[in-house]
Amino acid sequence: MTDTGATYTCVLTKLKMTDCLGDGAGDMTPMDLYEKLTSQGDTVRTLKTEKAAKADIDAAVQLLLKLKVDYKQVTGQDYKTGCPPSECAVSQDNGPAADGEDMVDPWNVSTTNAKGVDYDKLIVRFGSSKIDQELVDRIERVSGQKAHRFLRRGIFFSHRDMHQVLDTYEKNKSFYLYTGRGPSSDALHMGHLIPFIFTKWLQDTFDIPLVIQLTDDEKYLWKDLSLEDCHRYTMENAKDIIACGFDINKTFIFSDLDYMGASPDFYRNVVKVQKHVTFNQVKGIFGFGDSDCIGKIAFPAIQAAPSFSSSFPQIFKGRKDVQCLIPCAIDQDPYFRMTRDVAPRIGYPKPALLHSTFFPALQGAQTKMSASDANSSIFLTDTPKQIKNKVNKHAFSGGKDTVEEHRKYGGNPDVDVSFMYLTFFLEDDEQLEKIRQDYASGALLTGELKKRLIETLQPMITSHQERRKQVTEETVKQFMTPRPLNYSF
Ligand code: TYM
Repeated sequence: MTDTGATYTCVLTKLKMTDCLGDGAGDMTPMDLYEKLTSQGDTVRTLKTEKAAKADIDAAVQLLLKLKVDYKQVTGQDYKTGCPPSECAVSQDNGPAADGEDMVDPWNVSTTNAKGVDYDKLIVRFGSSKIDQELVDRIERVSGQKAHRFLRRGIFFSHRDMHQVLDTYEKNKSFYLYTGRGPSSDALHMGHLIPFIFTKWLQDTFDIPLVIQLTDDEKYLWKDLSLEDCHRYTMENAKDIIACGFDINKTFIFSDLDYMGASPDFYRNVVKVQKHVTFNQVKGIFGFGDSDCIGKIAFPAIQAAPSFSSSFPQIFKGRKDVQCLIPCAIDQDPYFRMTRDVAPRIGYPKPALLHSTFFPALQGAQTKMSASDANSSIFLTDTPKQIKNKVNKHAFSGGKDTVEEHRKYGGNPDVDVSFMYLTFFLEDDEQLEKIRQDYASGALLTGELKKRLIETLQPMITSHQERRKQVTEETVKQFMTPRPLNYSF
């Protein structure tokens, strides 16, 4: 399925393409159909201009008409020359959420459900695929490693083309990882760790190169911050990212403000993407309005460019065809739906994706942990005492009002933030299950559950801080110098 295309197919018609198309067309994306229609229109015109035999013209016209019917079935719209499907269909993902619908885009996450976003519905809305047990088993088989707890527990829950990545790997071909961070403050919060922890596991497991984009330009455009501040945050955030344990011989970290000017190949890819995405498309995908500055409108191309291996000639020696895999939370998917739509049109493979759920705010899973609300977040700079106080004071509890009631009826782990945090960070599956059962039965009280969480988080954050202290300016410079990595391409 095409990405933006799948969105409106599902949102507007609630049909899967394979449900409604005739022979052969079932595998085609709306963009494939659009391109086939455009080329068939050209064929008909050429045949007519060249005064071809009537039978040939009729056959070509019949095929054109059939394609138009298929196109209407798939997109719910009439084919219009010069108006590709993703441009004509304004994605509904990022407008105000319809009644009862969750809101998820790169800037906002909200739901009315205390259990959090309905991720199964989101998969349908975004047109991605669920990471099912079969895929988890295949990752284990292919890598020879036990699946990371984020995979075992459905924290990474959605993907695009992960089977294709594994096919590539099984053929002994390499792929590379790409992830990023928008440096808007000195400190990362725990939610930001999720994609980085998982990316490190992927790097270790598959032994592949990794590029990490720090979008200081994005934060300058979106926030009330100076360029100097954004660049400074980049250097600070890089230390936290390096402290996650990435291998310096396999990892390139870059600031957009520095790399855009230093790499002609990167900038060429940005411009290629810019030429192939219209204002209408980004308006539809990101909800830009007339008063947004033009920098925002052009920015998605900059987040798209690292998905293409030719943006890093120093690593991939000019190869355009190395498959990219992007681990991120699902809020970043709009950027990559756009990227995947553009990729074949500029001669590059589509990046594959692995999407995570959101690490919830302390106040509850109705929203994600966010740096803009200090009380909603545990920062990587918090002291053990601050962690304890934040959890005790703010972590939403699924427990009952009194100890008696709690013992009698039990707590609800599905809405309890402390339990949710443990599902992210407690490694032992059996212990986690025992905690869930004890809490649900009432044997474990809210205070005891919170204590368990505090004991899990405090050493984790303290050791992160110790590792971060070891990261010198010189190390940051090495990670951020464009250079070959330990791979031959
Ligand atoms: P940023 O800085 O908002 O977030 C960095 C990464 O953290 C993820 N994330 C979360 N994951 C789980 N729970 C949360 N509460 C949570 N909050 C944030 C984000 O999905 C992201 O993966 N524009 C991007 C920077 C970027 C990027 C990329 C991210 C550039 N290229 C490629 C991922 C992949 C940004 O501002 O991320």
